[in-house]
Amino acid sequence: MTVHNPSPPTSDDGWWRSAAIYQVYLRSFADANGDGIGDLAGLRERLPYLRDLGVDALWLTPFYPSPMIDGGYDVADYRDIDPMFGTLTEFDDVIVAAHAIGLRIIVDLVPNHTSNAHPWFQAALAAAPGSLERARYHFAAGRGAAGELPPNDWESIFGGPAWTRLPDGQWYLHLFDSAQPDLNWRNPEVRAEFEDVLRFWLDRGVDGFRIDVAHGMIKAEGLPDVGFGQQTGQRQVELLGKSRLPYFDQDEVHDIYRAWRPILDSYPGGRMAVAEAWAETPQRLARYISPDELHQAFSFDFLDAHWSADSFRKVIDSALAESAVINAPTTWVLSNHDKQRHVTRYGDGPAGLRRARAAALLMLALPGCAYVYQGEELGLPEVLDLPDDLRQDPQYLRTGQSRDGCRVPIPWSGKLAPYGFSPAGSTPSWLPAPDTWRELSVAAQTGVPDSTLELYRTALRIRRTHPALSTAAAQIVWEETRPGILAFTRAAGGTTLTCVVNIGDAPLVSTEYGELLVASTALTREGSGYLIPVDAAAWFERC
Ligand code: BGC
Repeated sequence: MTVHNPSPPTSDDGWWRSAAIYQVYLRSFADANGDGIGDLAGLRERLPYLRDLGVDALWLTPFYPSPMIDGGYDVADYRDIDPMFGTLTEFDDVIVAAHAIGLRIIVDLVPNHTSNAHPWFQAALAAAPGSLERARYHFAAGRGAAGELPPNDWESIFGGPAWTRLPDGQWYLHLFDSAQPDLNWRNPEVRAEFEDVLRFWLDRGVDGFRIDVAHGMIKAEGLPDVGFGQQTGQRQVELLGKSRLPYFDQDEVHDIYRAWRPILDSYPGGRMAVAEAWAETPQRLARYISPDELHQAFSFDFLDAHWSADSFRKVIDSALAESAVINAPTTWVLSNHDKQRHVTRYGDGPAGLRRARAAALLMLALPGCAYVYQGEELGLPEVLDLPDDLRQDPQYLRTGQSRDGCRVPIPWSGKLAPYGFSPAGSTPSWLPAPDTWRELSVAAQTGVPDSTLELYRTALRIRRTHPALSTAAAQIVWEETRPGILAFTRAAGGTTLTCVVNIGDAPLVSTEYGELLVASTALTREGSGYLIPVDAAAWFERC
């Protein structure tokens, strides 16, 4: 096996503990070949932008050969690149170029389900009920006199039943779209296959994996009914993270990660894995990041927290308490490719943007690993008015709820859509960027002192270089203050950094926190301190 530049940028094996990791939604990041879809060559060209932004690593969403029914989360071949995105050689080039400028690369692994175009599923369709080919997935007979009803009451996360019937009468399980059949992880062949896939990408030099639906691979024995769902007018997806469903967070899923950890550890340079996992309590979520399992789990409570001091305080305290018990770092996520962008969640328009900028300073001052979703550094809002016929999210087709609005291609430069996303004269971008994004492009914000891009650059630089922020070990100490204000201090190396966020209803005069380092909005002086307006945040330093 050829080893493709496995050298990581630094020798710090614990790099992920306090890293800033940038999520690249490849289809919408940068298009080099002019087909209106982002690709690896486009990403490679833009790597210097990401270095200058000041992040430590990139998480690339799936780039594997795929029918793209679910944006690539329907994988047909786990060891190759979809021609839409490039080639394996171009992937290797990205790794080499990224490592050369100090950026690590995490790839998305989708082990819960394959595409229905995967050779295994095609073989299963061609084989008879009860065959070894079907044993790699969940095939079952239906209920009812003629097997006309699904085997149980499980619902797809994307809406509708989680089972589809074949002409031969058997049903197969898909917790997402019917084009995403669930693998049977009780089958040793499935386990061996993915251990080999892990090694394939580790040998190519990747620094880690984001594990898709990490809580879903093991289903309860006997596939029991949930006993709740459409028949009661509610959706099972509403129970996600609140109560244990027989298809999520089963104890045996941890055996899989205990087998994966030694594989990751057998490679040099601190290879890591982050779980996209939903569990009913923080304690159960913490099991995914036991020392012999994965390294991180996304904190979705933070992603879902409202713009309120109480809500943020609760989520932060609970995440930090949990991480202290297990000695694993927390993760913080404000936006990703599955959620409405936080500018819009926090109220949209100027107020939403003000709050999103303040939230960025809050997140980037916290100990642990911060995930930045592409475009949040530009203050992009959700695109709410996409033409229906352009929406591609399979969830939209099944429920009318679409995640396309947070996946619109990044505006890089110029006055006309797609704003430098593709070379001039290209096919229109796969989703259109709105006219208002002209002012939000990278070029329009670069060097503009009060732009959101420059705010992120400044904050990420301070986060990386300030003794109190650059170490996960510097814990937060809450400052006593009035309701609606979040203020905490971190101390290390003889200096302190205090982050103050005003989520209240009146300006706050800060006098006692020290010298101003950065603020999410221009602050005016007030006596010996500063006036921090509502919906603003600032970092202060005391040496
Ligand atoms: C991914 C989604 C995807 C789903 C099914 C999620 O966790 O983030 O984008 O649709 O898994 O693979």
